[in-house]
Amino acid sequence: MNSELNKEIQKVAEVAGYLWQKGWAERNGGNITVNVTEYVDDEMRALPAISEPLQIGKTLPHLKGCYFYCKGTGKRMRDLARWPMQNGSIIRILDDCASYVIIADEPVMPTSELPSHLSIHDYLIATGSSYKASLHTHPIELVAMSHTNKFLDSEKLTRLLWSMIPETLAFAPLGLGVVPYAMPGSIDLADATLEQIKDFDVVLWEKHGTVAVGTDIMDAFDQTDVLNKAATIYLRAKSMGFEPDGMTDAAMKEIQDVFRLPTSRPC
Ligand code: 13P
Ligand code: ZN
Repeated sequence: MNSELNKEIQKVAEVAGYLWQKGWAERNGGNITVNVTEYVDDEMRALPAISEPLQIGKTLPHLKGCYFYCKGTGKRMRDLARWPMQNGSIIRILDDCASYVIIADEPVMPTSELPSHLSIHDYLIATGSSYKASLHTHPIELVAMSHTNKFLDSEKLTRLLWSMIPETLAFAPLGLGVVPYAMPGSIDLADATLEQIKDFDVVLWEKHGTVAVGTDIMDAFDQTDVLNKAATIYLRAKSMGFEPDGMTDAAMKEIQDVFRLPTSRPC
């Protein structure tokens, strides 16, 4: 494996360790995919398939010939943190854009959330995005908040989280999309997630977790972390017995203006 590809995979391992430490990755919880096509050299392109062709479940026309590092289904983040190539694999999308083969290092079956991840990557490529990484995890406080309809309104939830601490608005400027509960690993979940990812870098799956995209896996992790920190502050205030005031609209507007934040949703 060349050094550039190795660097991306080491970042995945580092983030997997953070997910475990944060308590967001019980057992095999969560998954990561990274579009590594630009780092795949001729030697790797020549590698034979080490699996039969496997179906994605969707046809994704922009993924033809692309390569992805994928966490393995059933694999633990805490193991991936130490051994990323034994707990994940690199796949090549075949010319039909609906199937793939595993090419390295071992025939580890990709995550069950592959339809969501690959639908997102297909969209990112189609739109010329610089984003290469997708992270699904189970952040405790955000998942807790998704258990009531009160917080399942993206606009209201975003505003609440932004108002908890100034950095949330600065570093998660698009806010948080919401996807109603759907079966994990399903095409329905993938389709609903894709619709939200068009407007948000981080999406909350009702009663399940989050999906975030970013330039690399560290970026996707940071955006999730910033939003979950805001959720934690909200819940800590509530557990002290009061409803937090939140920053004023004027204070939030000032941050949007000073940081020139890319938001379609003014405070
Ligand atoms: P995998 O082990 O298949 O990646 O699934 C974990 C998960 O969080 C499903 O939503
Ligand atoms: Zn999950």
